[in-house]
Amino acid sequence: MSLWLPVLLALFISVLGGLHLLGVFRRRRPKEPPLDKGHIPWLGHALDFKNNKVEFLQKMQRKHGDIFTVQIGGNCITFVMDPFSFGSILNVTRSKMDMNPIVKQLVARAFGYHHLENEHKVMEATNKHLMGDGLVVLTQTMMKNLQNLMLHSIGTVKNQKEWQYDGLLHYSSNTVFQAGYLSLFGNETVKSMGSKEKAEEFDWVHSEELFNEFRKYDSLFPNLVYAMLSLKDKLEAERLKRLFWNVLSFKKIMQKDNVSRWIIDHLQLRQEQGMAEYMQARFMFVLLWGSQSNTGPASFWLLFFLMKHPEAFKAVKEEVEKVLKETNQEVKPGGPLINLTRDMLMKTPILDSTVEETLRLMSAPGLIRAIMQDMDFKMADGREYALRKGDRIGIFPYISVHMDLEIHPEPHQFKYDRFLSPDGIRRTSFYKNGKKVKYFTMPWGGGISMCPGRFLATNELKQFVFLMLVYFDIELVNAEEENPPIDQNRVGFGIVHPTRDIQFRYKLRF
Ligand code: HEM
Repeated sequence: MSLWLPVLLALFISVLGGLHLLGVFRRRRPKEPPLDKGHIPWLGHALDFKNNKVEFLQKMQRKHGDIFTVQIGGNCITFVMDPFSFGSILNVTRSKMDMNPIVKQLVARAFGYHHLENEHKVMEATNKHLMGDGLVVLTQTMMKNLQNLMLHSIGTVKNQKEWQYDGLLHYSSNTVFQAGYLSLFGNETVKSMGSKEKAEEFDWVHSEELFNEFRKYDSLFPNLVYAMLSLKDKLEAERLKRLFWNVLSFKKIMQKDNVSRWIIDHLQLRQEQGMAEYMQARFMFVLLWGSQSNTGPASFWLLFFLMKHPEAFKAVKEEVEKVLKETNQEVKPGGPLINLTRDMLMKTPILDSTVEETLRLMSAPGLIRAIMQDMDFKMADGREYALRKGDRIGIFPYISVHMDLEIHPEPHQFKYDRFLSPDGIRRTSFYKNGKKVKYFTMPWGGGISMCPGRFLATNELKQFVFLMLVYFDIELVNAEEENPPIDQNRVGFGIVHPTRDIQFRYKLRF
């Protein structure tokens, strides 16, 4: 008996430990938000959450109010649904709430990348290249690449005045990806290809091939993050990761021309920190995904809404033509490419509002932070709650802000002028319960980890639409086209994707 006692004790302790890990003993403590663990140990509400985040969170909000803690796949996440309380999450120091531990786990799983000790400092040091003067340079490069790509592809077609047919998602994502990739990661050198024409041709073919592989990887991404890939998909994800690590290797990038300062600085800083070159390539893949995964689908929705809403189409088209005329430029056969500068892009309030409205409707990021210490959390109405170290806290702006009936009346409707004030400038006053709402749209997240690429991304979307409207006639093949359903699997990851492509046609205007 004495021999069995330690064995039984060890077994008992490991069972207890296991049950603890499964969250079986988790109880709501005094002052903590309502706790809803679901019925399945460890998984909790994971399946309902994954299947339809919007429905699930709305159900929890109806049941518990505007703050509650739910168990999802071994994590307890406190969701705050009151937009007036967002500041207490977005603007607190990293020592209290930090997204880095979560991102660290995610990028290790999805990209094989292992964080530096001071990762966020390196990120912050490089963000300047996406703003200010750095942005002017990038915008100019993007403009050239976009025009070359858009006009090159039509130039290969015999009768340039004939309608060309394509899937709008395919066309938009492909064009914006290729131009974005070349602008950030550089061009093939004339020296290695023998001539400028050959180097350009190589860039077009290579970036299109890369787009096709990127699309495959991106479609696996949500299930990769949830660790729910089938064996076949796991093998495919591995193949794709290796392909991107190879294409984005330190040596290959360093051999290119016109690599952006943003990329060069990231490589240099990591080199200085002694990071191995294979790990730098993995980080380049993180940057490629971060910079390209949302802009393609966003450009799709933007053009789709414009083509579906003739009054918006007319207003935006008149605006871009006016801006072009003011700079004495004209699009004509055999004429020079237009010079679309950042200054010109700052004179388009109608297009700005259209972009903002598209992002309000179609961006659904989940903003999750790790709680770094036991702490008190104060809601805007004065209620105080205790939060536990090791839990997570989340905001889901799509429900709390973008679709809020009071902040944005008729929230499911596309209104291109929703973000325009009567005097024709950006509208920034939105109200709920008679109080002004600070965070009235949040496609870029908010606070200290707000997307640093937001200015570049907005410019890319505006450039793409600007050029499409001045160079081409465009229309939906089916003018009565309904909004395509959205892919639920993408909710929580940024811009949502349609479940199917939409056919459109385009032809040169001149
Ligand atoms: C429509 C396009 C885009 C959307 C909707 C978008 C959205 C977001 C969101 C929601 C976040 C997380 C913010 C948070 O958790 O608070 C984020 C982070 C980030 N985005 Fe973007 N983004 C876009 C384009 C870009 C582009 C073009 C770049 C770079 C060229 C970029 C670079 C980044 C980086 C580096 C981060 C991580 C920031 C950090 O860890 O501190 N994004 N983005």
